Amino acid sequence: MDFQLSEEHLMIQKAARDFAQTELWKDVIERDIHAKFPKDHVKKMGELGFLGMMVDPKYGGSGLDTISYVLAMEEISKVDASCSVIMSVNNSLVCWGLETFGNEEQKQKYLTRLATGDCIGAFLLSEPEAGSDATSQRTTALDMGDHYLVNGTKNWITNGGSAEVYMVMCQTHVEKGHKGINCLIIERDSPGVTVGKKEDKMGIRSSDTHSIMFQDVKVPKENRIGEDGFGFKFAMKTLDGGRIGIASQALGIASGAYELALKYSKERKAFGKEISNHQAIQFKLADMATKIEAARLLCLKAAWLKDQHADYGLASAMAKVFASETAMWVTTEAVQIHGGYGYVREYHVERMMRDAKITQIYEGTSEVQRIVISRHIIGK
Ligand code: CAA
Repeated sequence: MDFQLSEEHLMIQKAARDFAQTELWKDVIERDIHAKFPKDHVKKMGELGFLGMMVDPKYGGSGLDTISYVLAMEEISKVDASCSVIMSVNNSLVCWGLETFGNEEQKQKYLTRLATGDCIGAFLLSEPEAGSDATSQRTTALDMGDHYLVNGTKNWITNGGSAEVYMVMCQTHVEKGHKGINCLIIERDSPGVTVGKKEDKMGIRSSDTHSIMFQDVKVPKENRIGEDGFGFKFAMKTLDGGRIGIASQALGIASGAYELALKYSKERKAFGKEISNHQAIQFKLADMATKIEAARLLCLKAAWLKDQHADYGLASAMAKVFASETAMWVTTEAVQIHGGYGYVREYHVERMMRDAKITQIYEGTSEVQRIVISRHIIGK
């Protein structure tokens, strides 16, 4: 067993850290206040290779492993979890799914643009009445012979307004339940697609989250991923990897808040000494550091398993549930250590606390992760 990162991993980690600390840090508060989509930063992430990190260079990707992706996600999330969710959805849910299950024509047409950041993508599974219960899809894709006719509404779609390519789960054969679901690639500009209202969110405010409506949208048959009825398995397999991305996002939010709290505790004096010299604060810092390290090891183990082509569904669910709960706890403690300063915007930790919450909800709630974990360990 080797816990040492390679030279290449350290270089990628540094590149992500430099980008986040210099470019993302300076206007992160403004973007959060105004819920402003980070268009220029996303463009730069594409140029730096962060939007198609694991994609084969022949499709315009960076050809890196999942460990590199975790390291970059942590660094970017330390500063701006809005940018990192845009990055995570594009990498894990869109590019990985297309590269792994798409055919050559689909890869040439869409993946090459998505991996370079020429455009970004979105993953459309959630519906007004199908969140955790993902088999209950109501969006329909009627088989019309040479094309599908899509009708329905998707909710809570990350990148919904800015993505040009949508991976959309639709029900084609209602009587077959989850075996009747297909994933279709739908271009945002197709006639009949409407980008609905932008959600005014508690956290990750500068990522754009929308509902998307489909009314009699004609989708060519060649835009279906895999065999007829493969859509639900496609979504589940893709989410297994997506959860490594969100676990790393949670890890980054936690470590960003911890670093700020540690720094503050060494500067702030109370009762005649720096607060880091008070045991009440020391115990908090010790617990924060320990939980973050455990979350990091879970993320890296899930990534390593994925890179070994081993089963990583259990590891990714464990990483996600633990890292997201760690993020919520650590950011709350970081606000507490900052006292009144922690409750105001300019000290950043209140934003991190708001951002942390979503990591317990999207790409499967903490409850869904526990279902996945218990099914693995009980053997169902
Ligand atoms: N890999 C491959 N196949 C899988 C699988 C996996 N990880 N998980 C389930 N399946 C298969 C099962 O084997 C089964 O297939 P068979 O019928 O052939 O045996 C089929 O899928 C149905 O599985 P279940 O009976 O286990 O399904 P379920 O209804 O009990 O649901 C669940 C299981 C884990 C709760 C699942 O519905 C789930 O993960 N829900 C959460 C969905 C989710 O994460 N939504 C997030 C939206 S995306 C998002 O947030 C993106 C964003 O914008 C940030």
